[in-house]
Amino acid sequence: MNTLTSTNLLNAIYDRRAVRKYTKDPIERAVLERLIEIATHAPSAMNLQSWAFAIVQGEDRLRGYSERAKTHLLQGTGALADHARGLLEQHVNIFHDASTLLIVCATGEEEQAQEDCCLAAQTFMLAAFGAGYGTCPIGFSRPWLRLTETKRELGIPQDFVPVFPVVIGIAAERPESHGREPARIMWC
Ligand SMILES: Cc1cc2nc3c(=O)[nH]c(=O)nc-3n(C[C@H](O)[C@H](O)[C@H](O)COP(=O)(O)O)c2cc1C
Repeated sequence: MNTLTSTNLLNAIYDRRAVRKYTKDPIERAVLERLIEIATHAPSAMNLQSWAFAIVQGEDRLRGYSERAKTHLLQGTGALADHARGLLEQHVNIFHDASTLLIVCATGEEEQAQEDCCLAAQTFMLAAFGAGYGTCPIGFSRPWLRLTETKRELGIPQDFVPVFPVVIGIAAERPESHGREPARIMWC
């Protein structure tokens, strides 16, 4: 893993992209553990650190989970399901053929646990970028990951809540930025 010190913080913030093509190279366990340790330096409400990190590995395994997650998602109603109907034909495998999925889980129902998890996930993605890896959040998988039977199968405790799934791997593409709208600023 490259050292993070070689990556300027602003470069990481500006140049990180959602990567949807990965090489077949595996990620070492030590690298994942190091990136997760870095993620735990994110801020958390009352410093409760209400997060836990589930790692699922195996491209074929994730492809199978993708089918199940899509089926579940498309049976649902609401904005995410509607959005998915338009997009999932393009993204046949919702995990983009990556072989590692990290699921940042809230360790309970504390009021701000989900915010903690999102901050840890963003810290993880920036650290991963700095270390030479690509990442992509996979919100489409979340409804399926939250099912009782899925948590049981993956060994995630029932009182944990999958909040932020993100795949990681060596990027096989360099996506362009889609740009950003100017911030809506209110001087109050
Ligand atoms: C909460 C959340 C859920 C997302 N879910 C998905 C997803 O299921 N699949 C996907 O390919 N990208 C997903 N993305 C990535 C966004 O599409 C991407 O971040 C956005 O288009 C901006 O592109 P950039 O990250 O390259 O700047 C998600 C991003 C966030 C923050």
